[in-house]
Amino acid sequence: MDPLDAILDRLSPRRRAHCRRVAEEAERLALHFGLDPEKAVLAGLLHDGAREIPPKEMLRLARKKGITLSSLDEEKPTVRLHGFLAAEMAREELGIEDQEVLKAISSHTLGSLDMTPLEQVVFLADWIEPGRKEHPGLAEVRELAYHSLALATRKAMDFTLLHLCEKEEPIHPLAVEARNQLVMNERKRIDR
Ligand SMILES: [Fe+2]
Ligand SMILES: [Fe+2]
Repeated sequence: MDPLDAILDRLSPRRRAHCRRVAEEAERLALHFGLDPEKAVLAGLLHDGAREIPPKEMLRLARKKGITLSSLDEEKPTVRLHGFLAAEMAREELGIEDQEVLKAISSHTLGSLDMTPLEQVVFLADWIEPGRKEHPGLAEVRELAYHSLALATRKAMDFTLLHLCEKEEPIHPLAVEARNQLVMNERKRIDR
């Protein structure tokens, strides 16, 4: 079996279909903004490759890779680790060494500092793919995504953070850092 299919084959049919839709949306966005559509498709297909690994196993694998885990990571391993482990899978099983693709897979849930346009494409494609159920902000982010990747990414982050506050859930500090940086970049662009 093709190694990429082998990774997708480990997922439930529902999640596999989600990955395909994310790849298609990422391709549309990449083409729209003049980015590499092949990288977008690859990162989109693989972004949730580790999503169905049981949380305890995620922790074990992440520790084996030597990453430092916060108490929040230990409490909710999936949030940060499913992207990180999917990027590791892509590197180890498919031999992908393209750092832009690997970072786009790794950061698709929380974002990261210095997000590249490809990272924003995958982050947004995951957020807006056509199978997503209606939820606050979806229509606005869908509309904005094809105008400004950075602004749409920041808006999507805002909606996610608001939603987490409403549910009285903890917020991962990496998500706050990524969002703050995008806001400060917007201000720099306005002030200039
Ligand atoms: Fe994900
Ligand atoms: Fe996803």
